[in-house]
Amino acid sequence: MQSFILCLLFGIFPICIHSRIVLDIYHDNSRANSGVSAENIQTPNQTYDEISLVKYLNSEYYGVIKVGKPAREFKVIFDTTWADSWLPSEHCALYELSCMWHTRYDSRKSSTYKEDGRKYERKGDEISLKGFLSTDDFHLPHLKVANQTFIEITHMPIMSTILQKADGVIGLAFSSLAVDGTIPFFYNMIRQNIIKQNIFTFYMNRDPTTPKAGNLILGGTDRSHIKTNLTYLPVIEKKYWTIHMDKILMKVGNKSYSYCTGGCDAMIDTSSNAIVGPGDIIGKINDMMGAKFVWEYFSYKYMVDCRTFAKLPPITFVLGGKNFTIESKYYIQHMTAFSATLCLSPFVASTTNSNVWQLGGAFLMQFYTEYDLDRGRIGIAETII
Ligand SMILES: *[C@@H]1O[C@H](CO)[C@@H](O)[C@H](O)[C@H]1NC(C)=O
Ligand SMILES: *[C@@H]1O[C@H](CO)[C@@H](O)[C@H](O)[C@H]1NC(C)=O
Ligand SMILES: *[C@@H]1O[C@H](CO)[C@@H](O)[C@H](O)[C@H]1NC(C)=O
Ligand SMILES: *[C@@H]1O[C@H](CO)[C@@H](O)[C@H](O)[C@H]1NC(C)=O
Ligand SMILES: *[C@@H]1O[C@H](CO)[C@@H](O)[C@H](O)[C@H]1NC(C)=O
Repeated sequence: MQSFILCLLFGIFPICIHSRIVLDIYHDNSRANSGVSAENIQTPNQTYDEISLVKYLNSEYYGVIKVGKPAREFKVIFDTTWADSWLPSEHCALYELSCMWHTRYDSRKSSTYKEDGRKYERKGDEISLKGFLSTDDFHLPHLKVANQTFIEITHMPIMSTILQKADGVIGLAFSSLAVDGTIPFFYNMIRQNIIKQNIFTFYMNRDPTTPKAGNLILGGTDRSHIKTNLTYLPVIEKKYWTIHMDKILMKVGNKSYSYCTGGCDAMIDTSSNAIVGPGDIIGKINDMMGAKFVWEYFSYKYMVDCRTFAKLPPITFVLGGKNFTIESKYYIQHMTAFSATLCLSPFVASTTNSNVWQLGGAFLMQFYTEYDLDRGRIGIAETII
């Protein structure tokens, strides 16, 4: 039989697979919807705020905020790997397609806009961005964060690997990473005294039948999602939410394997579903799952058989001497388009030669995380679904 390569578009990403790899076919009735209603009422005595998260294609998690006056809705990723916040700008050139696909911020239409104008440019390995700084009021469902300086993006790569459905990013990393000494979003909430506790928490649910992806609480906790005590881990440096990982364990059949046995660094990444690590180890883990290469725009991913995904081995991340185990019925990512479903491994090789692991949604779906800014630590506990 002749074989051929089949390419499908998942969101804006084409994924190409070899025809001999069988696709499961089923109907997608879990349409993502972003029907989060964010009202602009500011209740002065509210001591925290809660953002509902929505997941898109099982790979992106975003929430809805409003910016300016009259307030305009934006879908944003709350990202622990960035300190800056940014939105696509109305000043994007017409040929900036990725900008045109998203909701754009128009300062001329906001009476609370304050000009800044400092230039911004980031040339990264994976993404390069250009824009300038602006200031406006950001509205959460109940609280207002006044005078938030953010980047109006005028150039982003056409196939940005970080944004599909979301328009922009709210950075939740430490202020030492912020551009030009600007005050990051959560730091502004603290300075403006609108929250009681200087912590934020992510609860990501793992129910595959709903696009509802849990919530983010800014300024508080909701421990109803956990039943054990939290394990607290100090951040390595008040820059990224990076902690020490003791090792990774995997049991296949009767054999046990361990990786990063001398310990390694792991960054908690709320912006993506992936678990990223050094290519050689990621290759071994995926081999053991029987995963096959597929090509996704700019990167290789690994695909597993949708019929047997629930039987793949659990994987344990040892943090602070405790086992945090993820199970394949949750960690395998299902991408559905045109009634076809691909089952992808969340384990993705780092493209930057970095030895730092990134634990994204595939980990966070099973573990609730609390980010304590003052103490520089993360509390982790297993969620009750
Ligand atoms: C907020 O709290 C203050 C002091 O506790 C109180 O005087 C005020 O009435 C409260 N405002 C509202 C809107 O509840
Ligand atoms: C925001 O900026 C305006 C104008 O500069 C100022 O009047 C206002 O007090 C600021 N608000 C906060 C909460 O800093
Ligand atoms: C949680 O911590 C408290 C106080 O340290 C301790 O008494 C309790 O036994 C712990 N609970 C569990 C389930 O470990
Ligand atoms: C695993 O161990 C069991 C019992 O020790 C044995 O019966 C079985 O054959 C082993 N399986 C493999 C794949 O080695
Ligand atoms: C963690 O899991 C490994 C492998 O299953 C086991 O050998 C070890 O005793 C566990 N550690 C703890 C603290 O539960």
